Amino acid sequence: MSFTNYQPSIKKQNPSHIWHPCSQMKDYINLEPMLIKSARGSYIELENGKKIIDAISSWWCKLLGHNHPYIKAKVIEQINKFEHVILANTINEKIIELSKKLTNKTQNLNKIFYAGDGSCAVEIALKMSLHSRKIKDQKHKNKFIALENGYHGETIGALSVSDLGIYKNPYKELLFDVYTISNIPYVNSKENPLWNDCSLQWREIEEKLEKIKEGVTAIIFEPIVQGAGGMKIYSKDFLSKLKAWAEANDIHLIADEIMTGICRTGKMFAYEYANIEPDFLCLSKGLTSGWLPFSAVMVKDEIYDLFYNDYSPENSFLHSHTYCGNPLGVSAALATLEIIENENILGKTKTLETKMFNSMNKIAAKTGRLKNVRGIGGIVAADLLIDKNSKNKRIGFEIFKQTIQLGALLRPLGNTIYWLPPVNIEEHTLQELSQITEYSITSYFK
Ligand SMILES: Cc1ncc(COP(=O)(O)O)c(C=O)c1O
Repeated sequence: MSFTNYQPSIKKQNPSHIWHPCSQMKDYINLEPMLIKSARGSYIELENGKKIIDAISSWWCKLLGHNHPYIKAKVIEQINKFEHVILANTINEKIIELSKKLTNKTQNLNKIFYAGDGSCAVEIALKMSLHSRKIKDQKHKNKFIALENGYHGETIGALSVSDLGIYKNPYKELLFDVYTISNIPYVNSKENPLWNDCSLQWREIEEKLEKIKEGVTAIIFEPIVQGAGGMKIYSKDFLSKLKAWAEANDIHLIADEIMTGICRTGKMFAYEYANIEPDFLCLSKGLTSGWLPFSAVMVKDEIYDLFYNDYSPENSFLHSHTYCGNPLGVSAALATLEIIENENILGKTKTLETKMFNSMNKIAAKTGRLKNVRGIGGIVAADLLIDKNSKNKRIGFEIFKQTIQLGALLRPLGNTIYWLPPVNIEEHTLQELSQITEYSITSYFK
C-alpha cells in the first residue's frame, strides 16, 4: 500500500488523547491500555487489583525491579537538595562520585558526557567520532559501519545506523547511508563452538570490510546481544576480531550498551566477554534501573584530548540537552551501582541465566511451537514456529494479548517471545511467568 492512495477508513476511534509509543493505535480498540495503580519488584498492579509480571522490565530498563526502596530513598534525598540545575558551568558532589565510579569500571574510558535518553547518547557518540576526524584533519573518514539486525534508537542518526526496516523505512529520505556487516556468527548460548571461534565466518566478513575501510570513522554495534533485532546473540570471538581489525585500521568502536550494559548479560558491560574495550560506550536504561530518563557516553582520553584547546567552534563539542546529567538520574544511578555491589547482582544474573534458559527450553519441548531458544545473563528468547500459511498473521501479538489476561506483560518482538525481567526476579514469579508463557502458546495453537 502506498501512502499517496491511502484512504483512512472511518472506524471506531480510541477515545483517549494519548498516542502510545511503538503502537498501531487502532489495536487499542480491542486491547485497552492497562490502567496502572502501582508497581513493585517484578509486578505492576492495575487499578482493578490485578497484578501483572513485568516480563520485559518495561522495555529493558527496570534492572532492579520497580520501586526499589533504596533507589527511592536516594532520589528523595536528592529531591530535598535540588532536582535540576544546568550542567554547563556547574558541578556537584554526586555527579563527581558517579563519574568516578563509572570510569573505575572501565580501563580507559575516563571522560563522560551525560544526556537524557539512549538515542541521544548514540547521536552524541556518532557526532563525537565524526567531529574528532575533522579536528584530526581526517575529513575523509566520515562513514559509519553498523551491524545487520542492529538497533540504536529512533532519532535520525540513531535510525540511520539501525538496520530494522519497520522502524526506518518511512523516513528513508531523512537518513544517511551506512555500511552494514552481514552474516554475523549468531549463537544460542556460550556453549556453541562459534562463541569462542568464528574464524571461518570472519574471513568472509573481513574480506568485505577491507573493501570499504577507507573513509570509515567508526563501527557501531550492540555488544553480544542485539535487542530490538530479535534478542540475537553473537560470538564473542567476532567482537574480539572486529576490535583487532578496527584498531589496525584506525576506526573507532562505538559500543551501544544501552540494553546490554550494567549487568544485563551477566557482565557489567557485555563487551567484557570479548576482552575488549570500545572507544565510546553508550549507557542508559539499566544505569538508573529505569528510574529516570538518563544516559551517558563514556569516552577515551584520546578522543577528549582532541577537543581540548583554546576556544573555537571547530574544536569544541557544542552539543547540549537541557537535562544533561540530571541530578535525580545521577542519584538513581549511584544507588543502582551500590545495590549491584551490595546485593551480588552479577551473581544473581548468572543464576538467572541457567534458570531462564532451562525453563524456555522446557516450554519449547512441551508446546512444540518454539525454535531457536537462546539466552545469556538475564535474557532468554525463542522464535515461534509458524507454518507458511500463517506467515501474515500476528501470532506474537495474539499470544501477547493472552499473556496480559493471564498476568504477564510479555510484549514480543514480532514473533520472537522473550523474557528480560528484573534480574532480581523471585523464583515463584519466574515459575508463574513460565506457566503463563506455556499456557498462552498452547492455547493459541490448540
Ligand atoms: C541498543 C539500544 N540502543 C538505543 C536505544 C534507544 O534508547 P531510547 O529508547 O532511550 O532512546 C535502545 C532502546 O531500546 C536500544 O535497545
